[in-house]
Amino acid sequence: MLIYDALKKDHVKLKDLLERLVHSADADDQTRASLLSEIHDELIPHTRAEEAVFYNSLASIPEGKDLVSSGYAEHMEAETLLRDLQGMEGVGADWTKMAKSLEDALKHHISEEEGRIFQAARQLLADDEARMMGQAFEQMKPEVSEGGFLQNTLDLVANVMPRRFAAPLRSFAHRP
Ligand SMILES: [Fe+2]
Ligand SMILES: [Fe+2]
Repeated sequence: MLIYDALKKDHVKLKDLLERLVHSADADDQTRASLLSEIHDELIPHTRAEEAVFYNSLASIPEGKDLVSSGYAEHMEAETLLRDLQGMEGVGADWTKMAKSLEDALKHHISEEEGRIFQAARQLLADDEARMMGQAFEQMKPEVSEGGFLQNTLDLVANVMPRRFAAPLRSFAHRP
C-alpha cells in the first residue's frame, strides 16, 4: 500500500471517532472516556509513525524541507487538546467547545496533509518509494512507546525504507 493510502485509512477512522466524540455530550461518562481513549490510541501511533516515516523523509530533502514544518506543531496542538479533554471532569459548555476544537483542528490538519502535502510528495517520491514507506509506516505504528521509538525499532524499520531515507529514519528523534 502506498504511504498516502495507509495514512488516509487512519484519517478516515479518526474523523469518524471525532464525529462521534462531538456528538457524545449526552452520553454517559464511560462512553465518552472510551471514545477519548480510542482517539488517543489511533492518534498517537499515527502521528509518531507519520513523523518518523513520512515527515522526516520529506524534511531530509531540500524540496521537502518546508513542506511539513507546520504539521509537527499541529500534531502537538491536537495532542494537547486531547490530553486536556481527558483531564476534564463532567460535561459543560467548555467540554463541548474543546471537543469541537479538537475535531476542527484535526480535520483541518488532515485536509492539509491529503491536499497540499500529498500533492507535493507525489512529485518528490517515486511510487516504489511511497510503497516502501507505506510498509514502514504500518510496521512502526505498533512500536510507539511513551517517548517515541526505541533505536532498535528505528534500525529495523530503516531496512524497509527507500535507500535514501534509511539514514534519516535511523537518526529520527521525536520533537518534544
Ligand atoms: Fe496524518
Ligand atoms: Fe498528521
